[in-house]
Amino acid sequence: MFDSGLGGLTVANALMRRLPSESLLYVGDTARVPYGPKSPETVRRYARQIGEWLVQEGVKCIVVACNTATAHALDALQAALPVPVIGVVEPGARAAVRASRGGPIGVIGTSGTIASGAYTKAIQQRAPLARVLATPCPLFVPLVEEGWVDHPAARLIAHDYLAPMREAGVDTLVLGCTHYPLLTSVISAEMGAEVRLIDSAEETAAEVARILNERGLLHPPTEQHAPAPAHRFVASDAPQHFLALGGRFLDVPLTAVEYHVFT
Ligand code: DGL
Repeated sequence: MFDSGLGGLTVANALMRRLPSESLLYVGDTARVPYGPKSPETVRRYARQIGEWLVQEGVKCIVVACNTATAHALDALQAALPVPVIGVVEPGARAAVRASRGGPIGVIGTSGTIASGAYTKAIQQRAPLARVLATPCPLFVPLVEEGWVDHPAARLIAHDYLAPMREAGVDTLVLGCTHYPLLTSVISAEMGAEVRLIDSAEETAAEVARILNERGLLHPPTEQHAPAPAHRFVASDAPQHFLALGGRFLDVPLTAVEYHVFT
């Protein structure tokens, strides 16, 4: 699996809980983060380089844990790579349609994700009459990277960004970016407890389990005394920084991070 940086570890976390016998190889493209403001062509090139490397490393399936990379590159990766490639947008859209009580559905994400229209398209494919409001929240990513998840600045920025969502009365809000689940309490305080927040991590983990099962690729349940699954974490820059901050996204301590340059 890969993300532009640390944020995709929220998806890794969900996968580890859902599929505890599987070994993960996680790439955080820390040399080139953020993907959010970059052009679709650039994000596709980065995603292709990482996807090809993961295949060389022998993975049986790839999860694009980054919303922006899913929005811009999922189709290209699925066409180019010989293993199943799963993104986070479809699972998030599916969960949103299920959660909505018929009111408007809000989507927040990076500038690239929102400009791509990927979530709106995916939601309206399932619910053609759904009203979808999408707005970029670019400052949320640096807030989370700084650990300012419960900072007055986060509340102020959320208040401003989310005003159109509140005014439109959305009943469901998709957190369409890896980092946003860490701002859940600020976002929920702004939107009100009755608005359902959708984090695509859980839904994506369920989709990975379903696809591996369908294709006979699931690892058999780890038996007692069998070796534990071996997870690897790779960063394209500053692996020590990744090591120090990764636990914030992962819930479990990280013990080692490898360094690899993608070209
Ligand atoms: N991982 C990105 C996403 O989910 C957020 C960070 C970035 O802009 O690279 O869209």
